[in-house]
Amino acid sequence: MPFPQGFLWGAATSSYQIEGAVDEGGRGESIWDRFVRVPGAIERGETGAVACDHFHRYRDDVDLMGELGLRAYRFSIAWPRVLPKGAGRRNEAGLDFYRRLVDRLLERDIVPVPTLYHWDLPQALQDRHGGWTGRETAERFGEYGALVFEALGDRVDRWITLNEPWVSAFHGYHTGAHAPGTRNLEAALRASHHLLLGHGRAVDAFRASGRGGEIGITLDLQVSDPATDTEADVEAARRSDGHTNRWFLDPVLRGSYPADMVAVHEDAGRAFDHVRPGDLATIAKPIDFLGMNYYFRRDVAAADNELGFTDVPPRAGEPTTEMGWPIRPDGLRDQLLRLKREYPPLPIYVTENGTSDTAEPGPDGRIEDAGRIDYLRDHFAAAEEAIRGGVDLRGYFVWSLMDNFEWALGYRPRFGLVHVDFATQERRPKASAAWYARVIGGNAIVD
Ligand code: FCB
Repeated sequence: MPFPQGFLWGAATSSYQIEGAVDEGGRGESIWDRFVRVPGAIERGETGAVACDHFHRYRDDVDLMGELGLRAYRFSIAWPRVLPKGAGRRNEAGLDFYRRLVDRLLERDIVPVPTLYHWDLPQALQDRHGGWTGRETAERFGEYGALVFEALGDRVDRWITLNEPWVSAFHGYHTGAHAPGTRNLEAALRASHHLLLGHGRAVDAFRASGRGGEIGITLDLQVSDPATDTEADVEAARRSDGHTNRWFLDPVLRGSYPADMVAVHEDAGRAFDHVRPGDLATIAKPIDFLGMNYYFRRDVAAADNELGFTDVPPRAGEPTTEMGWPIRPDGLRDQLLRLKREYPPLPIYVTENGTSDTAEPGPDGRIEDAGRIDYLRDHFAAAEEAIRGGVDLRGYFVWSLMDNFEWALGYRPRFGLVHVDFATQERRPKASAAWYARVIGGNAIVD
């Protein structure tokens, strides 16, 4: 039996992508509320102001999760709903929303797995401290964590600190594709350190709370393959791995930044004075599990740019998702096996994996998303191979429960198991949802 008993099959979402109600219930402004108003930042000028209106519809949404047979639900808590200014006055109404959501999940035997930070930083912390470029934001994150553990710790026992700090740091502060839209590699490096420090502070706060349960972090991990076997491309792939994967894995799991990447940045004269004595010990505080998000493995070539590498497009004729991402399930297996080989043993959850399409209801109202079923079947099989190879995989969360606001791409990519008509807010489970319910029911991959 490849998937162990009690394997946590679930689905994932995040606050800004589904909640809407950005001005309701005392919520403060987030950097995404601000960023979506920048002309050209988001396709078609779309925003998450309404999104899936989940803030008002969470009861029905949880019922839907029950119908799909989900064993677990990964969602995120909007920091500005809880602390409208990021610190100081707490907003009880915001905490109440998450209490009600969690209670509804528990009534249906669905394990709640909240993430403290999935990118919607309180704008006040951006204004006051430069967001994650400021060390104070890491301190405020630790305090926010302590508050949430105290408020929800009686009913939640699995926590995730950060979602994909690589994306927060490098799309937020280097490419500028995400909020707050900064374009400066040095700023991004500082942001990455403060995100990690914030993670460590939150882990400390969790242990100090005395609540039982588990805490971990979610990293987006990908395999970087050299585009050719030239020495330059092999080195480029190593750098890509260093920049995206090891930059976060090593501090959290080994207590040090990867020396080769530190050398790359130091050689280029990038400052590291933001790393203070004791920080890495905080960042490396023991965690209980690692969350891994996986979408694709990348081909990388040497390039004459700041980082010395670039991604090359998918190979000719290769299947891709609607996002243009190559479909390469073996990367999931290989990355899981690599974690087992190279890092200290730790239970792992796949906290996101899934695919986008543009499937709409047919004349009979059904949504036939065969491509998603194939994608998930192949990735589940890759996870199964990793388990056979000895990886301690404890659960798998499909991204996403329902179609939602896909950041800079707006509502075009549809990642949901459940279709959302954004004009009416009608939810309709796709064919993949029924298929996934059968997988969950049997704890095994089905045709
Ligand atoms: C991940 C994000 C998630 C969603 C998926 C498609 O990087 O964590 O919010 O955007 O990609």
